[in-house]
Amino acid sequence: MEYIIVTPEYAPRVALIQLNRPKELNALNLQLMMELRDTLIDLDRNDNVRAIIITGNEQAFAAGADIKQMADKSAIDMLKVDQFSTWDQIRKTKKPLIAAVSGFALGGGCELAMTCDMIIASETAKFGQPEIKIGVMPGAGGTQRLTRAIGKAKAMELVLTGRFISGEEAMHYGLVNKVVPVEMYLHEAVQLAKEISEMSPVAAQLAKEAVNRSFETHLDEGLHFERKNFYLAFASDDQKEGMKAFVEKRKPEYKGK
Ligand code: CAA
Repeated sequence: MEYIIVTPEYAPRVALIQLNRPKELNALNLQLMMELRDTLIDLDRNDNVRAIIITGNEQAFAAGADIKQMADKSAIDMLKVDQFSTWDQIRKTKKPLIAAVSGFALGGGCELAMTCDMIIASETAKFGQPEIKIGVMPGAGGTQRLTRAIGKAKAMELVLTGRFISGEEAMHYGLVNKVVPVEMYLHEAVQLAKEISEMSPVAAQLAKEAVNRSFETHLDEGLHFERKNFYLAFASDDQKEGMKAFVEKRKPEYKGK
């Protein structure tokens, strides 16, 4: 891997992926995104991993797609390269994904954070979709995910002006789970990941799938989907263990089966 650093056992059952193009503020070039896609596929298959954190550095989570790589491209070049197919795969990651964001999370950087399931931000985080300032618009889900996360009025403002919002504001609008001092953001993300990794990974996958479905369908179909996943959880040993442990007043030992 050239542009990311992967630590599969950063904490017990928690993997860490660090975006690593610091001089370019972690601008997301094609290779970085392919490395990220391939790593997430591997980690999804790794039974020792139950939650995954994606982070950058204090200065930047990611300042967007690599503008220099796109600047001279034609529409047909963009169509052929099909850069967002890697994003489609990333979106399919089954394990819980947490973005630990400090500094810039702009354009594709904001979109990548929103592709994750939860966001922990530092007090210095800046979120935005500034593509309008370079003559384009969000292309990796920004218009859809930002609108669903913070509502039409605010999303429209950010997308049409390219303004940035702080971590605090982002939390106020419901984009971010928690804002902490800069020296704590990774620690806080790890604590969250560790808490999730103590749950049944089968139940976590089914639950993640059901929550995500709520963005893609109407209520009746969403409730139907939820019910099927709820029943499916009863096919796991983890369900037997979880309920037995409750009755026996002890901590469950989940095996992910
Ligand atoms: N792509 C390529 N290079 C980038 C980059 C990007 N998105 N963002 C920053 N860089 C590079 C800069 O070119 C600079 O490189 P050089 O030293 O070689 O000149 C280096 O990173 C440091 O950046 P700055 O000197 O600009 O740092 P700054 O602190 O003055 O400003 C910033 C920081 C406000 C984030 C500014 O860099 C900026 O506006 N970046 C672009 C943000 C942006 O427009 N993102 C959207 C990209 S398009 C997109 O993401 C489409 C999509 O939906 C997928």
